[in-house]
Amino acid sequence: MYRLLNCVVWLHLAISSIFGYDRRGVSIVTVIVGDNPVYGYFIQSPDYDVALARALRTFPTTLSQVKRLSVYKPGTYSCPEAAALMPILAMEVDQLIRDNPRDFTVLITPGCSLEVIALGDFAREWDVPLMAVIAIDLSLTDTQRFPTVLTFPSSDQSSLVRATLALFERYSWSTVSLLCGDVNPSGADNTLFYATTCSGFINALEQSSQIDALNVFHFDARTADNEGYENMLKTVGMQSRVVLLLVPTARRLRDIMVTADTLNMTKGDYIFIAPRSPAVFVEGALQWRFNVTSDDQAFAAFQSLITVSNPLPQWKMITALMDEIRSQSQLVYNRTLTMEDSVNGLTVSAVEVMSSVTEVLSQFSSRQLKAMTGTDFRKHFLNRTFELESRSFFIGPKGMRVCDVDLYKMNVTNGEMEVVWEYKLISDTLRQTSRQNVIWRSRNGPPLNRPVCGFRGDRCIGSLEKSVVTTVAPILTVLVSFIFGAGIFWFFHQRTKGSVWWLLEEMRLISAVTHSNLGTFQSVQRS
Ligand SMILES: *[C@@H]1O[C@H](CO)[C@@H](O)[C@H](O)[C@H]1NC(C)=O
Ligand SMILES: *[C@@H]1O[C@H](CO)[C@@H](O)[C@H](O)[C@H]1NC(C)=O
Ligand SMILES: *[C@@H]1O[C@H](CO)[C@@H](O)[C@H](O)[C@H]1NC(C)=O
Ligand SMILES: *[C@@H]1O[C@H](CO)[C@@H](O)[C@H](O)[C@H]1NC(C)=O
Ligand SMILES: *[C@@H]1O[C@H](CO)[C@@H](O)[C@H](O)[C@H]1NC(C)=O
Repeated sequence: MYRLLNCVVWLHLAISSIFGYDRRGVSIVTVIVGDNPVYGYFIQSPDYDVALARALRTFPTTLSQVKRLSVYKPGTYSCPEAAALMPILAMEVDQLIRDNPRDFTVLITPGCSLEVIALGDFAREWDVPLMAVIAIDLSLTDTQRFPTVLTFPSSDQSSLVRATLALFERYSWSTVSLLCGDVNPSGADNTLFYATTCSGFINALEQSSQIDALNVFHFDARTADNEGYENMLKTVGMQSRVVLLLVPTARRLRDIMVTADTLNMTKGDYIFIAPRSPAVFVEGALQWRFNVTSDDQAFAAFQSLITVSNPLPQWKMITALMDEIRSQSQLVYNRTLTMEDSVNGLTVSAVEVMSSVTEVLSQFSSRQLKAMTGTDFRKHFLNRTFELESRSFFIGPKGMRVCDVDLYKMNVTNGEMEVVWEYKLISDTLRQTSRQNVIWRSRNGPPLNRPVCGFRGDRCIGSLEKSVVTTVAPILTVLVSFIFGAGIFWFFHQRTKGSVWWLLEEMRLISAVTHSNLGTFQSVQRS
């Protein structure tokens, strides 16, 4: 009956050669709803295939009983629609579990949080481990309801907020402007990530006692041009020295930095802080080198930039893996993945989930596996660091990947953005990674939260007035007393000689002026 439903079950990579009586096989089942170009079936499946094939090459003996199955529902669905379809896919999974009664089953899904919540309830009833690749909802760490669920999100906006606040605290920055490219967000261009991150940042900064003043500017990243950036930056420059940039795509971020340079905002008085998404699929990698003619300006501008992101995959280390994924996609799924398609944080996450599952599986003997429950299996991931080729990561005590944060600054020697601080989420600490001092654009060190003369330079006019007062007062005093004295002198002179007051002796006048000059000099020295 379930077979009548519009689900497709793919079976491949079935490596179930040696079936002994007492040996227990393993079924790794991926459960995917829809063909989303970023985390749907066609982009994710080759990742699992390749990761499993690689694990089989590494542990040919211990993983010999593993087979890979897939439950998939074609189409395009929103997150709630996909979640509503989950019970139907769960019936397919149920059938697979019944069909393979001797197997230990592990489920992997790249579904959104709502999908995983729906499937997680089934997983509890089956006592089958469920690995969520991108779902991040904290309710999934409730072990009463989801005793078999583990979540592996590689990006988490609350950790970005906390790391940014830790940086503000380190440098006593409390007057902040936030530029959000979150008007008209769409799935394309990764603007959705920045729209949700913007609202997350606004909420957190408004509530933080660390922030004295927050100015928020919203703009449409797709239509804004350099002139728009210029007007925005001019206003920002009058209100704060610390500028947060939540700007989708690396190209636009670069444009804004170059515009800031044109406005003389990259000489070290200002600092620009840009939280980034690790799913660089549609964003492109952030580079100041872009066009030889304007490179110099971008090189200067990027020295005033700090980028903030959850640990990025080490793309240079995994070029062979990415090549393998592209050819698997072509061969098995008849889809051509471009270079850009595969520079995708979620592709890497999929590989990491399959790799860590196979790593844990490879450590069990078949006897241990026979007694294994889903709840027990989950426990083997807790408090554990996985050192993978793509990056290392830690699964926390609650069964969720702990998203630490790296903060990058440009190394002017080689022009690369390098990790300068690491933020550790669990201990809430910011640690400088490089043994050398952090190099700031200005020789005076990091930008001041508030410039000495105020954002418009008007505070110093106030102090100028003060020094004018202290300078002029003694002169006036001297003059007044001189005139008063002269008046008396004149009065008596008039009385005695009858001459006019302006016929005073030259000597007296000179001594009075000298005295007032001395007084002026001293008061300037003092103020
Ligand atoms: C930036 O500084 C340069 C040289 O100091 C000056 O010529 C230019 O007018 C300044 N530009 C702006 C927009 O202030
Ligand atoms: C490089 O920049 C110049 C001027 O800034 C522009 O005219 C040219 O089209 C750019 N080239 C590319 C390949 O973007
Ligand atoms: C592969 O896809 C192309 C179109 O994208 C199609 O023309 C071709 O028939 C497909 N090949 C196979 C073997 O399905
Ligand atoms: C994980 O570590 C935490 C804190 O160090 C500890 O309380 C917890 O019992 C550990 N959990 C497991 C399963 O090892
Ligand atoms: C910058 O890069 C150079 C060359 O790669 C390296 O020797 C130097 O230590 C780096 N500087 C900092 C501050 O990390």
